Amino acid sequence: METFTASVKDVSVDFMPINGTDYLELYVSNAKQAAYFYKFAFGFQSLAYAGLETGLKDRESYVVSQDKIRLVLTSPLKSGTEIGKHIDKHGDGVKVSALWVDDAANAYSEAMKRGAKSYLKPEILEDNEGKVVRSGIHTYGEVVHIFIERKEYRGIFLPGYKPWNPEYKTEPVGLKYVDHMVGNVELGMMDEWVKFYEEVLGFKQILSFDDKDISTQYTALMSKVMSNGNGRIKFPINEPAAGLKKSQVDEYLEFYEGAGVQHIAVATDNIINTVTELKARGVEFLQIPGTYYDVLGERAGTIDEDIDVLRHLGILVDRDEEGYLLQIFTKTVQARPTMFFEVIQRKGATSFGKGNFKALFEAIEREQERRGTL
Ligand code: FE2
Repeated sequence: METFTASVKDVSVDFMPINGTDYLELYVSNAKQAAYFYKFAFGFQSLAYAGLETGLKDRESYVVSQDKIRLVLTSPLKSGTEIGKHIDKHGDGVKVSALWVDDAANAYSEAMKRGAKSYLKPEILEDNEGKVVRSGIHTYGEVVHIFIERKEYRGIFLPGYKPWNPEYKTEPVGLKYVDHMVGNVELGMMDEWVKFYEEVLGFKQILSFDDKDISTQYTALMSKVMSNGNGRIKFPINEPAAGLKKSQVDEYLEFYEGAGVQHIAVATDNIINTVTELKARGVEFLQIPGTYYDVLGERAGTIDEDIDVLRHLGILVDRDEEGYLLQIFTKTVQARPTMFFEVIQRKGATSFGKGNFKALFEAIEREQERRGTL
């Protein structure tokens, strides 16, 4: 079942206008080394730092950026912190999905009056570069959304951070912005969270996939894609479906010990160059069997890219009514088999690669087989 309904709402009635993803904050066990990984493997640039040198006593954060994407990598500096407990339970993972808004106090009150659970009451952060207003609400698992209002701020990132400008630098790989961020939630909870995004944040469901769309011989999952009014924020939400073996969502929920962010899809304008560079830097991707490419011409129709190049790199292609997209998935990027990245290039297509689900999930199952978790 697939229904696509364009969801361009009149912004005058959008009670939760969002300009885009502001940043994603990951709680990680070693922020300094994680920053190195995201810089040298994924082409992020050093942007800002907060920690002992800026007066923090209990944690430090490294902020890296690439075009519009900002990742904040945070670790505790002592035992017994909330961050440390989060890492102990979940391993490394996304804690904050920050949304860029024009009015963080209003976003908070609109969300709260529609039933959100408060994480952070509106507060003003100030330094010499101006002020930022922020507020926050809980979403699935222990993930939170923080609303960031930065129209009166000129600084590098947020008040309290200092510019981080080390001598050594790495070249970017062409990653541009966060295309979508996917959450895995517990069995039976997908519709609850769909309702949350509809009612509390005014999102619309733009797509849905059931276990007939997303299943292999062994595993299945269901997914619904939520989008905000202007389409800049897209949150697919997955839940496991019954299969012969343990699904990838079940494996995630087991190792993350609860709901959380499964993958972050980052957009590029040239996936061939981006993936060639990522591979040269040691980023590992799921392997797609050669047979996928034998029938690709028939399935995807005429495309600009050379299929042999796509085959060599393992890039997937899918077409919808509006065009096509190219995508590829990394292996999981931390100790636990939980979060991974997707690199996506859209050439008109607004969907999520439904035609690739089967090949993709079979590739994931081969990884699960190796881990003994299928
Ligand atoms: Fe995706």
